[in-house]
Amino acid sequence: MDFPKHSILQALSVMVLAWMLVHCQIPVQPEEEEEEPAKEADNTAVEPIACPSECSCSTEGSVDCAGLDLTEFPEELSENTKQLSLQNNKIKQITVEHISHLHQLETLNLQNNWLTTDGLEDEGFETLEKLAYLYLANNKLTSAPVILPSSLVSADFAANQLIRIYPYTFGQKPKLRSVYLHNNKLTDAGLPDHMFNASDNLEILTMSSNFLRVVPGNLPSSLHRLHLKSNKLEKIPPGVFDSLHNLRELYLQNNLLSNEGMDNETFSQLSSLEYLDLSNNNLSVVPKGLPRNLVLLHLEKNDIQRIPGDALTSVRNLEYLLLHNNKLRSRSIHPTAFQGLKKLHTLHLYNNLLERVPRGLPRRAKTLMLLHNFISEIGRNDLALLYTLTELNLSYNKLTSAKVHRDAFRKLRMLETLDLSGNALQTVPVGLPRSLQVLEIKNNQLSSIPDGALTGMEKLQRLMLSDNQLKLNSVYPGAWMELRALTVSGLERRWSLQVQHLKCT
Ligand SMILES: *[C@@H]1O[C@H](CO)[C@@H](O)[C@H](O)[C@H]1NC(C)=O
Ligand SMILES: *[C@@H]1O[C@H](CO)[C@@H](O)[C@H](O)[C@H]1NC(C)=O
Ligand SMILES: *[C@@H]1O[C@H](CO)[C@@H](O)[C@H](O)[C@H]1NC(C)=O
Ligand SMILES: *[C@@H]1O[C@H](CO)[C@@H](O)[C@H](O)[C@H]1NC(C)=O
Repeated sequence: MDFPKHSILQALSVMVLAWMLVHCQIPVQPEEEEEEPAKEADNTAVEPIACPSECSCSTEGSVDCAGLDLTEFPEELSENTKQLSLQNNKIKQITVEHISHLHQLETLNLQNNWLTTDGLEDEGFETLEKLAYLYLANNKLTSAPVILPSSLVSADFAANQLIRIYPYTFGQKPKLRSVYLHNNKLTDAGLPDHMFNASDNLEILTMSSNFLRVVPGNLPSSLHRLHLKSNKLEKIPPGVFDSLHNLRELYLQNNLLSNEGMDNETFSQLSSLEYLDLSNNNLSVVPKGLPRNLVLLHLEKNDIQRIPGDALTSVRNLEYLLLHNNKLRSRSIHPTAFQGLKKLHTLHLYNNLLERVPRGLPRRAKTLMLLHNFISEIGRNDLALLYTLTELNLSYNKLTSAKVHRDAFRKLRMLETLDLSGNALQTVPVGLPRSLQVLEIKNNQLSSIPDGALTGMEKLQRLMLSDNQLKLNSVYPGAWMELRALTVSGLERRWSLQVQHLKCT
């Protein structure tokens, strides 16, 4: 039968498209916006509100003067203004007269202007009885307003030069849910003792990139997220986190925290905490008393030399544990340290001082990153309990073929990706799992692929052998025939085999 060419092409392109939709999730073209039904013409009920020149105003009370290079606050704003957009201008001054009549104002956006504390007559804010959203990020304020209205829901003061907050800036605000104070110059002395007194609904507080040395106390128990990264924190006073039963995410990375600055109860009451980032601090031991519902724990980039047997026993729900860039040796990881971590699937131990695969690795691990250590041998049982492992990265260690036991990989029946690059292997190890899809042994001293080493690897899709000393006759006859899934796209000069897959770019 004679198929017309174009219909075959059409069928093909439909299939490719279907494949891409399934695999790449190409966003579906947005449908043409439906034309809005013509608004009822002259709605005489609404009075036209005075609109400052150049700004655009709506009958619903929003006044948009954003990005107009304004140097002055607009005069003659209607008392009915509910939303006022003044972001991205050059306004330096706001007086009481400018704003005190705006009793209906709900949103005031002054982000990215030239406001200083002297230029902002903050008594004006007291009268804004409906003000809910106040955006003052990216100005030049050195002190926060002394009093903000109790109607406040969200306040953004990020990227100013704040050194001082007052008790009624954020205190006594029962509706307040989020406060953004990152990128300022706050020190411990610049904060009132009860900064959120009677503001019992605060959920998000960001104070990253300031100069705090001590974690602030008396935070509301409603908090969900607390950002304190990139300060100068040395100490977490006893009990400061004890009432934060709703806290789910706590960001403490890039500080100077050491084990002396905390104790075994510092985090223990944070019963909702799922995400804790303590990376890039000065810890020498995994802290004790971690909260039991933690899912993700960042401890990388510290000075951790030891994991005691009981440090992680409480965190039974932990799924990700990141311990890379520390100073761990195999013998200083207690053999029971990971016991009971039945949900832990991702463990990063790269860039440490491991000489061996640590004992007692978590039994349900799926991804194990051991690269850039000093591992020189793999014994028969070092990997024997890792039945569920799918990705093992052992690149850039000190492995030699003589010290990799021929049965070492026998239990890894689900392993899909194995990276042994940058070691000192002389031959491709035998007994590699048949489940492998990716095998990388670049940059070793391989001079042979022993008979049968690749036998039965029907799923192998990518084999990287570049930067070795392999010659054509050092590969056993028939080796490539066995690799059914391996689509060799180019056999390069130095035995680099690489399969290019259709990429979704
Ligand atoms: C907190 O606010 C209450 C009123 O809601 C007041 O009685 C108390 O003195 C305040 N406490 C502090 C420490 O400011
Ligand atoms: C912390 O240590 C003290 C004394 O070593 C002990 O009494 C207490 O039970 C520990 N608390 C926790 C939460 O482990
Ligand atoms: C890190 O902690 C140790 C004590 O564990 C302390 O001696 C050292 O000064 C700390 N380093 C920094 C930069 O804070
Ligand atoms: C092993 O880890 C290194 C560093 O993250 C990465 O570049 C490499 O691709 C990994 N190997 C595999 C096979 O994924």
